Amino acid sequence: MDSSSLDAAASVLAKSKHLVALTGAGISAESGVPTFRGRGGLWEKYKVEELATPQAFRRDPVKVWSWYKWRMEIISKARPNFAHVALAKLEEMGLLKALITQNVDGLHRRAGSKNVIELHGCIWRLRCTSCDYAEYIEEPVREVPPRCPRCRSLLRPGVVWFGEALPERELKRAYQEVSRADAMLVVGTSGVVMPAGMLPLLAKERGAVVVEVNVEESAITPYADYFLRGRATEVMKALFEGICERLGKSP
Ligand code: APR
Ligand code: ZN
Repeated sequence: MDSSSLDAAASVLAKSKHLVALTGAGISAESGVPTFRGRGGLWEKYKVEELATPQAFRRDPVKVWSWYKWRMEIISKARPNFAHVALAKLEEMGLLKALITQNVDGLHRRAGSKNVIELHGCIWRLRCTSCDYAEYIEEPVREVPPRCPRCRSLLRPGVVWFGEALPERELKRAYQEVSRADAMLVVGTSGVVMPAGMLPLLAKERGAVVVEVNVEESAITPYADYFLRGRATEVMKALFEGICERLGKSP
């Protein structure tokens, strides 16, 4: 990560009037939550069409639920890392206005972020496949597959599967925030899944400055104004300190 880009990015972000963040699996990687693509990613070992589509769930709900239970067990042991905490602090300082995440692990909320837009849902939310029953759980499901306490139909993970529409309310909020953004901080996403991957470009087209944090180039890098190469915890620490310095606040 070169310090001149970092300094310039910290100055831009410190001066921003409507900073919006977009995060992906890479921000949770150092908390021990596996990413999807790249070395060791989940989609290297598992097949999307067998685990993360409505058809897969209809075909074999036990297999799909066993995989989500396994992911819940990993996530329940994970703790928010400093990158999550830095974003929560930037929100507390009044600088970060909204945090749009593709992650379903809930780590942003556990780090203290309040205005979180979970575009792909949340693994801790279960909803019934027949009635409107829904609940948030705190620990991995016991029964596989879990059943609705009201109508005994199958419960499903409250996440967005491939081929499904994103939750309307969250998507609308995300577009509203992007349309008002004068700066966008993108952390740990490959930028290949739409529509999330397109949000930084939309922001840029409306004049926002795009700052990207990633260990390697992504689909977003070609149009990022600043590409800060490095691990999210390391870069976010330096960026957060640089912003605090410019705002005369103690990190
Ligand atoms: N620090 C910063 N970036 C990191 C780190 C790290 N420690 N580790 C990995 N990365 C980067 C990778 O280089 C990659 O660009 O995080 C990104 C992770 O990309 P993906 O695994 O594709 O995750 P994401 O972009 O969130 O995927 C989007 O795809 O499978 C669906 O619904 C799923 O929400 C997910 C969506
Ligand atoms: Zn039900």
